[in-house]
Amino acid sequence: MTQTDRNRVLIFDTTLRDGEQSPGATMTHSEKLEIAELLDDMGVDIIEAGFPIASEGDFAAVSEIAQRSKNAVICGLARAQLPDIDRCFEAVKQAARPRIHTFIGTSPLHRAIPNLSMDEMAERIEQTVSHARNLTDNVQWSPMDATRTEWDYLCRVIEIAIKAGATTINIPDTVGYTAPRESAELIRRLIETVPGADEVVFATHCHNDLGMATANSLAAVEAGARQIECTINGLGERAGNTALEEVVMAMKVRNDIMPFQTGIDSRKIMHISRRVATVSGFNVQFNKAIVGKNAFAHESGIHQDGMLKNAETFEIMRPEDVGLSGTSLPLGKHSGRAALRAKLKELGVDVGDNQLKDIFVRFKELADRKKEVFDDDILALVSATTEGN
Ligand code: KIV
Ligand code: ZN
Repeated sequence: MTQTDRNRVLIFDTTLRDGEQSPGATMTHSEKLEIAELLDDMGVDIIEAGFPIASEGDFAAVSEIAQRSKNAVICGLARAQLPDIDRCFEAVKQAARPRIHTFIGTSPLHRAIPNLSMDEMAERIEQTVSHARNLTDNVQWSPMDATRTEWDYLCRVIEIAIKAGATTINIPDTVGYTAPRESAELIRRLIETVPGADEVVFATHCHNDLGMATANSLAAVEAGARQIECTINGLGERAGNTALEEVVMAMKVRNDIMPFQTGIDSRKIMHISRRVATVSGFNVQFNKAIVGKNAFAHESGIHQDGMLKNAETFEIMRPEDVGLSGTSLPLGKHSGRAALRAKLKELGVDVGDNQLKDIFVRFKELADRKKEVFDDDILALVSATTEGN
């Protein structure tokens, strides 16, 4: 294996499964097809297209995505039950590269729900993973709530799943409970300890309840995980999942300290972010990293002046690299003369120094009354200050 292969991190997108589980984020069949196509097109390695046993609609969407996919592996989710796994395979089997993802909650709290003893659950894992492996050679297994599962039991069940044929072992931080150092330690120790661990891919699946999903995912990668599970805009249950755009751009921008590669064309990020926001009905917060409206916007005079001289003064990545046409310098009460002059130039207005002074005074008065001053406002100020008025 080359160094590049070792440093390649697979991007597993679960916008259409975990993302859609977010209350109120339901998408229609055609919206799901559109998002899957965009994900495939941007270079996502594995698309978790849905939970086929959950509904007829989910089954239909996963099947059609499987038929249409061009490059990505198409994955469906299944509980640790044979009919779930069969239904899942039925839906994904037409993909060029299908995957079954089966899971069971292994922590004490989750074991109590089906009321299985540790031995009974271990047996169930052996039976269901073997069953999935008889259907396809691409099987992912997840011990749900892994980060709150007893260490010895976690090692035991992972070993069983690997022996039964799982090819990817996903370690979910189901309730967003872990923290970066612990996330890294867990992955590192599992890879060192569990027999057969070096023959499978370890994945990290983090939720954002404490706002640490991105940091926890990257820490897991530094410790040896080679698949990140994530969603566009961080959509997902409760506080959401790891945001795809954040982990991808973090590894790109700080490749000096995180020398990992993904197959994602980052220039497609903004478009898919907007489409997911529209179809899910979940607006992106203005100050969201990478895709928020303000992520590449600068209003204050000092920042605008710096940006006009050298964009690197206040931007660590180029807006074009995430699919934006450029930086935005919205005019507001914190803006200075340099930004106003740049705006006038952009609007094709040529003014002398005295008129600029006059417009600037009026602009500040207006900006104190309005949150944002738009192009039309500026043009009105220009007319109002034109010689003779
Ligand atoms: O968060 C979680 O544990 C999950 C599993 C189904 C992988 O989404
Ligand atoms: Zn999840």
